[in-house]
Amino acid sequence: MSGLAVRGLRVQVGSGRNAHVAVDGVDLDVPAGTVVGLVGESGSGKSTLARATVGLVAPVAGRIEYDGEDFAGARGRRLRRLRRRVQLVFQDPRASLDPRMTVGETLAEAATAHRRLGRAARAAEVRRLLEQVQLDPAHAASRPASLSGGQRQRVSLARALAVRPDLIVADEPTAALDVSVQGAVLNLLRDLREQSGLSLLVISHDMAIVRYVSDRVAVMRGGRIVEEGEAAALMASPRNDYTRLLLDAAAGG
Ligand SMILES: Nc1ncnc2c1ncn2[C@@H]1O[C@H](COP(=O)(O)OP(=O)(O)OP(=O)(O)O)[C@@H](O)[C@H]1O
Ligand SMILES: [Mg+2]
Repeated sequence: MSGLAVRGLRVQVGSGRNAHVAVDGVDLDVPAGTVVGLVGESGSGKSTLARATVGLVAPVAGRIEYDGEDFAGARGRRLRRLRRRVQLVFQDPRASLDPRMTVGETLAEAATAHRRLGRAARAAEVRRLLEQVQLDPAHAASRPASLSGGQRQRVSLARALAVRPDLIVADEPTAALDVSVQGAVLNLLRDLREQSGLSLLVISHDMAIVRYVSDRVAVMRGGRIVEEGEAAALMASPRNDYTRLLLDAAAGG
């Protein structure tokens, strides 16, 4: 299968007496070109799973593969190449963007991390990236503090796109945003997939958000995937009581 395949993943967080298995035997696929939503309550292990898929935390067991290549065993150049292919976008762009750098500098740095670009090519790439996330190219000169939350999240997405990944893992990409701009960022995620054939793993505690963007949905609880399936079918007839609970919460909220 091409895309991301997670198999039997087990991740421990904390240490000593605080050690805790946050991801407990997870199988998850994100086939190339699809949007998969990962939904579950706070503390269910979603972010830990996300961090493991990009190599930020090492699993104690299981495999993470891209196009059949094992991430966990990779070192050196192979690891760097695999890391480029999947990019993580965080919940809070305020914390993840360097406040001292202009938007243009941040994007240029990401764009040149894995390839050489001359001055003119770099400026053109920054412009292309800003247009791709529907931001005015004049924002290249802005610093994060002068942008709105929604604009900052677009910059975070542009930075992820700058390294030309195959998959973006977006961990609660709209949780820090006003409801009024959440929809615009979700629409942007959908557009990016249409335009570029990118795969997305969109993580949220909110079934309404996951339902809006996803082809397939995986429901996580207590470190395990309790239900997975095609989005419309899963919404129409959830097999799991917990999935039903999340659907009711979304409908009521
Ligand atoms: N560094 C850590 N040290 C100790 N425990 C941790 C650590 N990181 C996460 N945990 C615990 O692991 C579990 C899963 O946390 P995780 O952040 O993955 O959940 P989540 O589903 O992303 O939650 P949320 O929706 O609140 O973001 C929780 O019980 C959490 O307290
Ligand atoms: Mg989280």
